[in-house]
Amino acid sequence: MEKIIIKGGQPLRGKVAVEGSKNAVLPLQAAAILAVQGTVTLNNVPPVTDVKVMDRLLGFLNLKTAYGEKQRQLVLNASFPLSSEAPYDYVNQMRASLLVMGPLLARTGHVRIALPGGCSIGARPIDLHLAGLEKLGAEIKQDAGFIEASCEHLVGTRIPLDFPSVGATENIMMAATMAAGITTIENASCEPEIIELGNLLNKMGAHVHGAGSKVIRIQGVYYLHGAEYTVIPDRIEAGTWMLASAVTNGDVIVQGTVPEHNASLIAKLEEMGVTIIKQADGLRVLGTSVLIPANVKTMPYPGFPTDLQPQMTVLQLLANGTSTMEEHVFEKRFIHLEELRRMNAKFQISGSVAILDGPTRFSGAEVTASDLRAGASLVLAGLAADGITQIRNPQCLDRGYYHFYQKLRALGAKIDRLNIEDKFKITPDQQPRQNKGQEKE
Ligand code: EPU
Repeated sequence: MEKIIIKGGQPLRGKVAVEGSKNAVLPLQAAAILAVQGTVTLNNVPPVTDVKVMDRLLGFLNLKTAYGEKQRQLVLNASFPLSSEAPYDYVNQMRASLLVMGPLLARTGHVRIALPGGCSIGARPIDLHLAGLEKLGAEIKQDAGFIEASCEHLVGTRIPLDFPSVGATENIMMAATMAAGITTIENASCEPEIIELGNLLNKMGAHVHGAGSKVIRIQGVYYLHGAEYTVIPDRIEAGTWMLASAVTNGDVIVQGTVPEHNASLIAKLEEMGVTIIKQADGLRVLGTSVLIPANVKTMPYPGFPTDLQPQMTVLQLLANGTSTMEEHVFEKRFIHLEELRRMNAKFQISGSVAILDGPTRFSGAEVTASDLRAGASLVLAGLAADGITQIRNPQCLDRGYYHFYQKLRALGAKIDRLNIEDKFKITPDQQPRQNKGQEKE
């Protein structure tokens, strides 16, 4: 069994470089489906598992792709006849597989995709994706765990979203690029990743206006072609490093980040007494031994990102008094707190609000990562803790962070990732032990 092992108490110091944005790259990979001619070349693509899962799915759909890990460059060619079925294996591994729905529908007039199952951060329905595609003229059927959407041709229309869903905005944008006439997405998601998608689509020949604002207008075109695009730095990875410096009372320079993309985090860190200095070589984050409590609410961009909520709660738990965290994007994203309880955290959860009682003296313990960001929060707590922390299921960190523990080690953390034999694992050939005289059931 693989585990991350941390000996806490070491302030982080030095420089760390941020990779390209995972959540920007995934829709850009899907957008490549729309290029009937030429190749789509993406630069600054991080070698994380989610990008590889999307790559395999695109290969299954008959795109030809080539990734140079050293150059961080991904080249995609969709100028072949495409398959339009995304099996359960892919969607089950990664919900972002759903992003192939919009572009496949636009390109082939048909898509059959497995319905995603449960998710560790809460119910994640896809009603907004489907309603949007239906409004564009798709006929949607659900059967045997699959969603099937088909259309003769898509026609632009007005699509008001009940909630500014990132994925629904992206799927509708991609489907609308080749719809007849104008599509207007209202209450659209404003995340920087949406601007990235709009930029790439426009380079491919689409007419997308207003990406990054509440209203996006798309004038349909006949076809899209290849293009080259360089992806923005990952604001969630950057935020994770900033929080890692703060929780260890460290001094870390986060390189290659866009400060405006982390404005809500920077404001909260400063409110809590952390010093942030914008330097030529990056954002310098200086911790403090006297952290001030703060109340935080997650919100769609430009609000505080839900993907930094678990990591932020670690800092709040270290603060000198009571802080609150309100989770307004996902309904069940406090699972990490139950693990942190094993490390001495004191808190109460009431609906979508966690009341966090600091200051916590985290103590090392054995804990389990339930998802990518929960895993990051456990690592941060381990760095701040007294003693040894062991984190199970470290593979989930590979989904969105490249060389996470190696980068931490370069900053001075005492951290390793080991394959440890599981003494308590029960293998299928092991019979239950029986006491003498006991009957088999
Ligand atoms: N929602 C609906 N109906 C829908 C779609 C979404 O009710 O049809 C709800 C969801 O249940 C959730 C909320 O809307 O409560 C937000 O979901 P959204 O669609 O915005 O999220 P997503 O597109 O599935 C992306 C990121 C997530 C990030 C969220 C929120 C990607 C690939 N994923 O997911 O990233 O948490 O936006 O910012 O872009 C991560 O990187 O760890 C991660 C989970």
